[in-house]
Amino acid sequence: EITADTLPSALARSDSDRAAASMHRLMLAFLITGFSALLIGATIGPLQALNYGGVDAYPALRPLLQSYYQGLTIHGVMNGYVFTFFITCGLLVYLPARELGVAPNLVMWRTCFAIMAVGALCVLYAMADNSSSVLWTFYPPLKGSPFFYIGITLLALGSTMPLPILLEMRATWRRHRPGEITPLVTYMSLTTMLMWGLAGVGVMAELVLQLDPWSLGLIGTVDPIINRTLFWLTGHPIVYFWLMPAYVSWYGLLSRQVGGKLISDPMARITFALLMIFALPVGTHHQFSDPGFSSIWRGILVVLTMSVATPSLVTAFTIGLSLEYAGRLRGGQGWFGWFRALPWGDPSVAAQLLAAITFILGGATGIVNGSWQLNAIVHNTTFIPGHFHVTVGSVTAMTLMAISFWMVPHLTGRQLISRRLALFSVWTWFVGMTIFAIGMTWAGLYGVPRRAWVSALPHDTYHALYGAASVPLALVAAGGVLLWVASYAFFAVFFGSILFGRRAAPPPVPFAQSFGGPASSTIDSPPNPAQSASPLIRALDHVWLLTGITVLATLAAYIPILWPFLHHVTRAPGWILW
Ligand code: HEM
Ligand code: CU
Repeated sequence: EITADTLPSALARSDSDRAAASMHRLMLAFLITGFSALLIGATIGPLQALNYGGVDAYPALRPLLQSYYQGLTIHGVMNGYVFTFFITCGLLVYLPARELGVAPNLVMWRTCFAIMAVGALCVLYAMADNSSSVLWTFYPPLKGSPFFYIGITLLALGSTMPLPILLEMRATWRRHRPGEITPLVTYMSLTTMLMWGLAGVGVMAELVLQLDPWSLGLIGTVDPIINRTLFWLTGHPIVYFWLMPAYVSWYGLLSRQVGGKLISDPMARITFALLMIFALPVGTHHQFSDPGFSSIWRGILVVLTMSVATPSLVTAFTIGLSLEYAGRLRGGQGWFGWFRALPWGDPSVAAQLLAAITFILGGATGIVNGSWQLNAIVHNTTFIPGHFHVTVGSVTAMTLMAISFWMVPHLTGRQLISRRLALFSVWTWFVGMTIFAIGMTWAGLYGVPRRAWVSALPHDTYHALYGAASVPLALVAAGGVLLWVASYAFFAVFFGSILFGRRAAPPPVPFAQSFGGPASSTIDSPPNPAQSASPLIRALDHVWLLTGITVLATLAAYIPILWPFLHHVTRAPGWILW
């Protein structure tokens, strides 16, 4: 049920209840599609965890899955691309529309959904028929079917479509409020999508110039190194495309959900501007073990990579202080009392707080990956998936779950079927993912390789090779089983509430107030004179300036690396291994 007080004032005033209802339905469609992808991905993930624990479930799964690598491709693509893209492309349009009180261009937003949906279906088909077990990185010369590459092309293209929608909404808003600073959630969403639009150029070039025509038989060979470089031009920024929507919720909503205020609006803007600028130039740090570019460049990359930690540290302190402020308002005392005083009984809050805690492990392991020498120890071991399951697998996944806990009631007018089951799911996810990640990173230090069907080895060989890592590998398997329980508890709450939740007045979007930011945001609320913002914040509002800096930094980092590759082209025919 849509009531007048849940609508942004401008939408209500222009009497476009129908537009608001379409917006709700479309946002719900993004949410349901995204979590359906996670349902597939999270069903397969624990099988991989069991694989490392020495349990080979795959022979029993034929003909559904022919090999470990088919399952792993589905897991990576469904979770890493389809789940995150759908929810983000819904959220980063929906939240700004509410914040600004401006309706999004529904035709474009539906097109975004449709392109990604067709792409997802193509990729699913290609993975299901076992023609494309090329893993989520689809490194050539591994070769899959045209459906796979064309599907990925459509997914990538569709995922950048919120950018023009956001630019249009911001322009409309500005016409009503000339000279004002972009409201925070819109600013964060816009910088995220600008970053992603620029980043997408890499993988688009790889797909359109090489992999699409190659898979269609139009060209015979491809260059693996050039294509890996183009992939990581997008593949590093994708980690920010996973992280920034979670930060949008932490900065833009969480402080309100815990009953306080965001402690600093400018810090949030600085974080997003820095993430946008730093995300692109460092992509080749995924290629520390690739041949062909100088060690000087590898050294420079380490320094640049470490600088990306700055905005995340700023986030840790700003969000930490905002939480402390709320906790003390709620009567929390002493060193840790404020933390316990937070509203842990709200599953949306609990999920985000737990997500933030796992990020400590995620950040620390990221510093290891980003250092050239340490990277040499952990490269291509289980340490790497150990790391990114405490980033995208928990920070992003849990924050998106947290968002669904208020958004499903908000969009459908139905309450959660069980807050206790919701709390159970996120706590179990937290415990399971922590155990899993400790196991994976620890096993990686013994050199256990990632992407390896180790459970298919003869028993003696498995023990001879990985016996030393038996304790961490047991943790991996145990964590995986807990994650099965956690994810099905979550899906019961999510789908159950949409279908069977009790009807209740829909809650509003929990936009947070902030210190140092504009007081009001929708197009018809009282004006905020721009002079009241600091010069830095006004400068950061020039997003095209940030775009220019990002492009220059990226060219400076990539031309010297790509140039020699372009002069020593290798021509590799395709391999189909599994
Ligand atoms: C890879 C388990 C959830 C994204 C893996 C691997 C394991 C695993 C064991 C490593 C496989 C290997 O290297 O051979 C799980 C479990 C999950 C889970 C038990 C709990 C349900 C997620 C989530 C995401 C995710 C929520 C992202 C949103 C990925 C990606 C890979 C991966 C991108 C890399 C695949 C590759 O190397 O090609 N997962 N995962 N996983 N996982 Fe998960
Ligand atoms: Cu990276």
